[in-house]
Amino acid sequence: MASSADFAQRYGPWALVAGASEGLGAAFARELHARGLSLILLARRSAPLETLADELRAEGATPRVLAMDLASPDAHTQLLALARELEIGLGIYNAAYAPVGDIAERSFEELMRVVDVNVRGPLTLTHALLPPLRERGRGGLLLMSSLAGFQGTPRLATYAASKAFNTILAEGLWGELRAQGIDVLASCAGAIRTPGYDAAAGKQAPGTLDAASVARRSLDALARGPRVVPGALNKVASLLVGRWLPRRRAVAIMAANTRELENSAR
Ligand SMILES: NC(=O)c1ccc[n+]([C@@H]2O[C@H](COP(=O)([O-])OP(=O)(O)OC[C@H]3O[C@@H](n4cnc5c(N)ncnc54)[C@H](OP(=O)(O)O)[C@@H]3O)[C@@H](O)[C@H]2O)c1
Repeated sequence: MASSADFAQRYGPWALVAGASEGLGAAFARELHARGLSLILLARRSAPLETLADELRAEGATPRVLAMDLASPDAHTQLLALARELEIGLGIYNAAYAPVGDIAERSFEELMRVVDVNVRGPLTLTHALLPPLRERGRGGLLLMSSLAGFQGTPRLATYAASKAFNTILAEGLWGELRAQGIDVLASCAGAIRTPGYDAAAGKQAPGTLDAASVARRSLDALARGPRVVPGALNKVASLLVGRWLPRRRAVAIMAANTRELENSAR
């Protein structure tokens, strides 16, 4: 693993965490502060962002808080302006929207929101940050993905498909940008203890990791893209459902997992 000084040199001085207000995004912010980067904390709700910013200020950080909706039509313009103002060496796309349930019972607006937050959002961030990263010839992009993106997932079909998009996007960008000094990684996580996960699940799935551990493992893997699966059990699970099992069996396993998650939340 690179030392904090090397990490800050390669990915600093500013890191933007998109979806930073709680859970894994907040864990990324804490870990990046420990590694010597300055932070831009972005999410929709300013109150939890300010609480996190205060916590980091008490530790000597000078974070910027940006309350905005990544799914809004002017997100690209706002991020372009930010990338012109600050030297952002690292962009992390952590925000996500994951409605669980029968697709026919979801409104069309909800499904489009999955596309806006999970597909349009990471492309928006990537496109806005890339020109200055390329000019400097160094930096990184980290897209949060999921084991759900390795195969179809009943009752989470749009979310899973959007995560497949992120994994494949990151892999392509990794191949395209590495010669220009820019590291790209998809972090394909299994279950993570976050407020979002706790709200959706009544009990923890096997292999569930702390947000701090996923943030650390993902950042440690940034220079070794194009993808990482944090956690030994999750690595085995990813091989099982992603490669070894017939697709029908893999989809059936994901269906059972989602059903159990829904039942445990009732
Ligand atoms: N938790 C898990 O078990 C798990 C497993 C595999 C992969 N992942 C991935 O890990 C990432 C984080 O998961 P999580 O459970 O911590 O998610 P989460 O609890 O839903 O938090 C997501 C963060 O994104 C922000 N956000 C959501 N929509 C936004 C929008 N439109 N504009 C700006 N910010 C927005 C949220 O803050 P605001 O509400 O204030 O906007 C929050 O800070 C996601 O990409 C998820 O797919 C999670």
